[in-house]
Amino acid sequence: MLTATVLSCNSPKTSPAIPADKAVEAKVESVLSKMTLEEKAGQLVQLNISTLEDETHEAIDPAKLDKIIGEYKVGSILNVMHDAAHSREHTAAMVRQIQEKSMEAIGIPCIYGLDMIHGASYINEGSLYPQEINLGATFNRRFARQMGAAMAYETRAAQVPWVFSPVMDLGRDPRWPRIWESFGEDPYLQAEMAREETLALQGSDPNHIDLEHVAVSIKHFMGYGVPASGKDRTPAYIAENDLREKFFAPFLECFRAGALTAMVNSASINGIPTHANALLLTGWVKEQLGWDGMLVTDWADIDNLYVRDHVAADKKEAVAMGINAGIDMIMDPYDPECCTAIIELVKEGRISEERLDDAVRRVLRLKVRLGLFDHPLWEEHAYPRFAAPEYARESYEAALESEVLLKNNGILPLPEHKKIFVTGPNANSLRALNGGWSYRWQGAADEYVPQYNTIVEALKARFPYVTYEPGVVYDEAPMAWEKEDATGIAKAVAAARGADVIVACVGENSYCETPGNMDDLNLSAGQKKLVRELSALGKPIVLVLNEGRPRLIGDIEPLAAAVVDVMLPSNYGADALAALLSGDENFSGKLPFTYSKHINALHTYDYKVSEHRETMEGSYNYDAVMDVQWPFGFGLSYTTFAYSNLQVSASEFKEGDVLEVSVDVTNTGKRAGKEAVLLYSSDLVASLIPDVKRLRGFDKVALEPGETKCVRFELPASALAFVGADGRWRLEAGDFRISCGGLGVMVRCTETKVWDTPNR
Ligand code: BGC
Repeated sequence: MLTATVLSCNSPKTSPAIPADKAVEAKVESVLSKMTLEEKAGQLVQLNISTLEDETHEAIDPAKLDKIIGEYKVGSILNVMHDAAHSREHTAAMVRQIQEKSMEAIGIPCIYGLDMIHGASYINEGSLYPQEINLGATFNRRFARQMGAAMAYETRAAQVPWVFSPVMDLGRDPRWPRIWESFGEDPYLQAEMAREETLALQGSDPNHIDLEHVAVSIKHFMGYGVPASGKDRTPAYIAENDLREKFFAPFLECFRAGALTAMVNSASINGIPTHANALLLTGWVKEQLGWDGMLVTDWADIDNLYVRDHVAADKKEAVAMGINAGIDMIMDPYDPECCTAIIELVKEGRISEERLDDAVRRVLRLKVRLGLFDHPLWEEHAYPRFAAPEYARESYEAALESEVLLKNNGILPLPEHKKIFVTGPNANSLRALNGGWSYRWQGAADEYVPQYNTIVEALKARFPYVTYEPGVVYDEAPMAWEKEDATGIAKAVAAARGADVIVACVGENSYCETPGNMDDLNLSAGQKKLVRELSALGKPIVLVLNEGRPRLIGDIEPLAAAVVDVMLPSNYGADALAALLSGDENFSGKLPFTYSKHINALHTYDYKVSEHRETMEGSYNYDAVMDVQWPFGFGLSYTTFAYSNLQVSASEFKEGDVLEVSVDVTNTGKRAGKEAVLLYSSDLVASLIPDVKRLRGFDKVALEPGETKCVRFELPASALAFVGADGRWRLEAGDFRISCGGLGVMVRCTETKVWDTPNR
């Protein structure tokens, strides 16, 4: 089979996602005009740093540098040596060496890229924030901005101008091992947080990225998060209207905010590997959005077109297929011969000169926009805010606002004098608090930052009477996260006898990507056994969930007096937990995903009205009950909030109008607190079965006891549109319900309007 050429889309072009800059374009053309075919091919290839390492895996081998940069003229390098974080000096010195070689040998700067996922994940002394799933739970855009700004600054301080972040795969299948890398299951929440992070990472002018900002690679474009099997990098089947309306939404938001690069989904949608999907890569993004940025593959995914997916017969066919579909840079990552394949394919006419030049322009444009031609290197010591205390404070505050109180029968806050027994495999682990992409790919925080507190350490620092016995421990092998040793349960039960309250810290060890695949979403057997046996003592149990995805706990939840989901709150997560459990601080996190209860009932909050029994008149499916453990947006506090006076500025509207919505929120309890105010809409009748509700706005407000604040939202009528079966946006005449905090107001759209993609 030969490579498909680009499908052109009939929908009209919009104004370019990033405004073209004459000086940038002139520089690109002047460099391009002098390049040989070999130099052009090299610009399209990105290799792993291991291809340059010497036998110590700590330094660059000059002979390999000569070969990879000098001979093959490779344009980009990624990753960390020895799969481990290094000091910023080490990283900067390594990049310097590569850059000097690149300028000397080809006169074009090399672009170095790193997986900075929740802060400067790959720099020893860098600042880490709670993972994106936690930032989603804060419903507070401030934290996405703060994390982005710190990540950009600290990455630059290591001579690196490009991060593979933010992640915006919708975490809509709890079985998938990467949902914690995203902001949750909802397209709007994801889009809002990802846009804020993108702007903070790149700054506000994508044509001129300054030395405190970096280029993003929004990922993984797109539909990666809902594999039918639940396993990473396996096929997804997504209806086109869902793809357009939900999965594309965060990417669209970030392309329009100026995202300079995007990384492609490693897997496939509806049988087409995304790396070969010309309609999505070239059609939806480059043509329809007029986006002039650069598309990079994910790890070895061109090889996957023939090795795994069998849509190409060999490497050369796979390279042609990817580049002709719209790929601009191939993360190969070990094989410089990829350059030779590109050269041959161009000579054979299987990749046109025009496509080659277009891809090279996109790579050069990125380098020009980053200022790499003017300053291929910069003074890495001129970053006084590296690892600044303000980043630590922000990380702690984000952890505080992200840990979610899911149940409290009155046991919390814990009085000072209580004898607390702490147990569980997550009680004494920084690795588990941080998750993957923390100092190492699979996570390894304890080896790198022992100075931070684990949960038991933080509780000991806050409460006078704390004892500890793990009960269950994980196998610490980096990729064996699900294995555990439960032989210590009897010891834990014996040790718990003298306590007033048990804090059981359960969940998952860290993992990342495919090694996190699993066959059972239930919390592991040993941990459930630990909780069951402890409960026989009749003492109150506070269940602390420290996990990257909602592991099912339906059978042990009734045994707990209180439940807190801390997810992956990073290095200050335990301190935040101690402050929350003690009542020094108040909970304000809300779930950014649905916490399912049953293995055969994995839902998202925006399910179809026809799936729910209460709306099921006339249906035969009497079992369709949304019986979830905790719904999306759920989270308790030590105070209470009351909503009143929900108002919408007009009772009738049409396309082009903006509805102004306001609601009063009052703190009716005795403690100060913060409340995430979530605004929903429901389309009551539509030509496709409508979702039961959709998140359309959110804000976070701080309220003193007795205080009331009016929270306002602007709701453009177009935000209430959906994508029809024909792939076009539709705002249909009829009734909508706008709801917030349990209140609802009916409004009516007076006119049906249909319009082309990608406009909303
Ligand atoms: C992951 C990406 C990551 C890339 C480079 C891949 O395996 O899927 O998220 O950016 O590796 O490290």
